[in-house]
Amino acid sequence: MKSRFVLALGFSLAVLAPQMTSAETVWLDDLNLAAATQGWGQPHKNQSVDGHTLTIGGQKFERGFGTHAESHLKINVGGGAQKFSAKVGVDDEVNSNAASSVEFIVVGDGKTLWRSGVMKAGAAAKDCAVDLTGVKSLLLQVSDSGDGIDFDHADWADAKFETAGTKPTTVSGEPQLIFVAPYILTPAAPATPRINGANLFGVRPGSPFLFTIPATGERPMEFSATGLPDGLQLDTKTGCITGVLKTKGEFIVTLRAKNSLGTAEKKFRIVCGDQMALTPPMGWNSWNCFAGAVSEERVKSAADALVKSGLINHGWTYINVDDFWQNHRNSKDPTLRGDFRDTNGVIVPNSRFPDMKGLADYIHKLGLKAGLYSSPGPWTCGGCAGSWQHEAQDAQTYAEWGFDYLKYDWCSYGSVVSSEVTNVAKVKSNGSPWKKDEEAIYPYKIMGEFLRKQNRDIVFSLCQYGMADVWNWGGAVNGNCWRTTGDITDTWRSMSGIGFRQDKAAPLAKPGNWNDPDMLIVGEVGWGKTHPTRLSVDEQYTHISLWCLLSAPLLIGCDMTKLDDFTLNLLSNDEVLAIDQDALGKETTCVSTNGDVRIYAKDLEDGGRALGFFNLGVTPLPLDLKQLASLGFGGQQHVHDLWRQSDVPVNDTPAIMIPAHGVVLYKVTAAK
Ligand code: GLA
Repeated sequence: MKSRFVLALGFSLAVLAPQMTSAETVWLDDLNLAAATQGWGQPHKNQSVDGHTLTIGGQKFERGFGTHAESHLKINVGGGAQKFSAKVGVDDEVNSNAASSVEFIVVGDGKTLWRSGVMKAGAAAKDCAVDLTGVKSLLLQVSDSGDGIDFDHADWADAKFETAGTKPTTVSGEPQLIFVAPYILTPAAPATPRINGANLFGVRPGSPFLFTIPATGERPMEFSATGLPDGLQLDTKTGCITGVLKTKGEFIVTLRAKNSLGTAEKKFRIVCGDQMALTPPMGWNSWNCFAGAVSEERVKSAADALVKSGLINHGWTYINVDDFWQNHRNSKDPTLRGDFRDTNGVIVPNSRFPDMKGLADYIHKLGLKAGLYSSPGPWTCGGCAGSWQHEAQDAQTYAEWGFDYLKYDWCSYGSVVSSEVTNVAKVKSNGSPWKKDEEAIYPYKIMGEFLRKQNRDIVFSLCQYGMADVWNWGGAVNGNCWRTTGDITDTWRSMSGIGFRQDKAAPLAKPGNWNDPDMLIVGEVGWGKTHPTRLSVDEQYTHISLWCLLSAPLLIGCDMTKLDDFTLNLLSNDEVLAIDQDALGKETTCVSTNGDVRIYAKDLEDGGRALGFFNLGVTPLPLDLKQLASLGFGGQQHVHDLWRQSDVPVNDTPAIMIPAHGVVLYKVTAAK
């Protein structure tokens, strides 16, 4: 893996600043404040973020820096400064009843030097005075203190340095992350057989059944199963179970995997009923790496790589083609030009996808499942032909081709929605341009019905960014998962901004219905031109841990042909994936916030709980296992580190640090 980063502040001191001879006062507002990054608005010199006189708790200040959480201002102080001081607080332009709360943090050379504690609107300014002796790089941070950035107008008033060294200068951009080599936490799977993945599988009667037993261990391996219901057959060499179940029912099957070193056994529950995706779908999608440059060959290579890399043995299943398999409305690229539909109205794939059925067959032969993308509007988000007024026909075509998953977007539906939806009741406006809940629901309702009519299980994934609180009705329109957010990108701001703001939708997640915080951004990603993810190593551990705690669909977004050892390790920890695939289907919420540490807990089917201790700050922070009692864990607990796959001695633990932007992920069970 090429560039990886870690959080410890250190930025280039190459910019030579004027040398000062005797101690002098340098005002923060005399530096270039435009270098700051912040969650809302623009950095302001001598004014609040809304452009008013800086005022905290009724006290006015002539000078200072008005900003908004999450805010970062990096400053090279060069080692010669003696002191930084300021008066900090929430600006009075925020109503004192507003749900504003921030924390001011000063970080020097990667260490926290001062924190204000949580400050609310209306509170008096606090004095910040920090000794800077020897400090070279400084970060002034304003965090949202864990409750979102609403109304977080923050002032560093009267902020100044005393320095006899080089004049401080600000540095643009997010806090710089110093390179840290990827470190692998998870031991390799043993050579003895082990059956991984979910222990629950849903299928509808009459639908083709396809499930590959995910098993690690040395090959050759022989698979067997007892209790397999009539209609299903197991390929003993590949572990692939196929067939059709005619009637509804629940079947407990014992799966076995045997090699020269031993035999593994696992109970597996098949539920033949109305619901599929009883655990969150896991697989790959073309968008986050190839975007508009996807092709049949690239999709086949991704499927091959999923098998060859061994990821199939950890439960990764779907190979999903995103946008750009259809013809484009006005692209200059000849491979994207052609008829949108044939004379019968059947959708025509572009020339990069000469044989859609052949592609689905290819994927199925590998023991995997195939997915596709469309939009209810005339055009997809990328400008290719959408399903508008051809919904029934498209659902049928996808089923005939053999696809098992449909991601259904929203783009361009806004332009036709009014003509489409009649009788719109005057229900609450959700503030977005599509105005009425009925309008947001309608296209999914009809596509959901058409998909259900097919003799094939097609997982229905709604991609409408959470409009009209989709989590409240997505299941009722036959959705199996639904995006709760806009598009993710491979930055800490994007990933953490999405991942740590899912609490509202969480109670609605259950087997067959999943909130989707968007696809994974680890490995080589890049929407056309790929690069190694810009997430640091610890941010990637956070990303995967959080998505598993959230019971999120896990769709790898990287170029599978360029999987590096670190990314592969990250995606093949069966204990971590088991948290995502847990049959209880609960979604985590934040159970505790303490400064930059947030604790997320998820109840598990076996009575245990998964606990993620996340550090949202830019310096490592200690984890206190004694907190377990205050989190509702009474009595003796057995604590297991899921990334390291090893037990943690509770009573005799050396200090555990949570890396900056990183995580410690445990499973806690009552000790016997
Ligand atoms: C939207 C979706 C993305 C992707 C693109 C395709 O932006 O959110 O995930 O499907 O459309 O154009």
